[in-house]
Amino acid sequence: MKEVIRFFDCFAGIGGFYYGVQQIKSNKYEFRHVAYCEIDKSAQKFYDVACSSEGTQKIQDVKDIKTKKNPNGIMVSDFDILFAGFPCQSFSNVGYRKGFDDPRGQLFFYILDMLDYYKPKYFVLENVQKIHTIQNGSLLDEMKKALCEIGNGYILHTWNLLASDYGLPQKRNRIFFCGIRKDLTEPKGISEPPVVDLKTAKYPTTWHLLEKGAVDPKHYIPQGSRRTILTKPSNWEGDVNIDNAIARPLTATMAKWHRANQDNYFSEAYIAGTDPYVRPSVNLDTEPIRRITPLEGFRLQGFPDKYAEIAKNLKLAYSTQYKLIGNALPVNLAQAVIEHFLNSYL
Ligand SMILES: C[S@@+](CC[C@H](N)C(=O)[O-])C[C@H]1O[C@@H](n2cnc3c(N)ncnc32)[C@H](O)[C@@H]1O
Repeated sequence: MKEVIRFFDCFAGIGGFYYGVQQIKSNKYEFRHVAYCEIDKSAQKFYDVACSSEGTQKIQDVKDIKTKKNPNGIMVSDFDILFAGFPCQSFSNVGYRKGFDDPRGQLFFYILDMLDYYKPKYFVLENVQKIHTIQNGSLLDEMKKALCEIGNGYILHTWNLLASDYGLPQKRNRIFFCGIRKDLTEPKGISEPPVVDLKTAKYPTTWHLLEKGAVDPKHYIPQGSRRTILTKPSNWEGDVNIDNAIARPLTATMAKWHRANQDNYFSEAYIAGTDPYVRPSVNLDTEPIRRITPLEGFRLQGFPDKYAEIAKNLKLAYSTQYKLIGNALPVNLAQAVIEHFLNSYL
């Protein structure tokens, strides 16, 4: 009999964790989706179609969940593993260092409160890697300490991973915190999930996933903005390279026509070319150049093509789609981390 692992997908977005676990095939365990929490209405609409199964509990605001500090809140259905890609804004301005008595303002505290109250067997949390650099790394140390000590204590593994090491042509770094309740096992050292050779992946480069046919003209850089987008200001670091075989990290604001050194643009010459690793010589004044389409965005994050159909059927604006895609957790990372972590213990 397989062990059933009931999961609560918190800060669910469009379901990077959800779709990641659907890809895991194990003869020891299987997943059951019991609850999800997401505050954004567009993400909810999307998730309800793409991910929610019948009987899945839906909670809108994590602040409404029952915990010791919120005894009248909504009780989450029993779950064994908590998934949470908590919003990174939590760390940008509020004084985490004030400690756990800090007025509620940071969503990481809600994760701690849930672990303290529900004491799930496992958790997998995800965030931007820049946490490393905040307060010279002391914030990360405090977070790890808190996660080890919360409830009856957890054994913690922390990994910094790059999406392009796990089968997606995108330089997206994420930090993962994987915990197993201390009373369930003995601590052991676990290496990072084994890397995947990108050449063997479904899409080894961006070129492999770019739509080759006509796309909505709205995706082409507007004539009047070309110079701003494609010229490097003299005081800026970095490059303006377009036609990157491995994409820059997708952002939630990619609808805003960022400068080329912050975003992903592709020329028709590259898209129509035959060598994904060669950047054609492109006239930046005249060559048609475009941003990625939502379908390409979903692919770059490891989602199936049907997700683009779902977004289209829901009539989500491009800006909304890009926000949801840019905030998402790459599916391949979710899958690799959860599978490796659980297989190390089960
Ligand atoms: C970094 S994104 C996580 C994305 C998700 N892992 C995915 O694959 O799409 C954080 C999510 O938390 C949601 N969120 C922010 N504040 C929230 C709150 N108070 N309660 C529930 N969800 C919240 C945001 O709307 C956003 O979708």
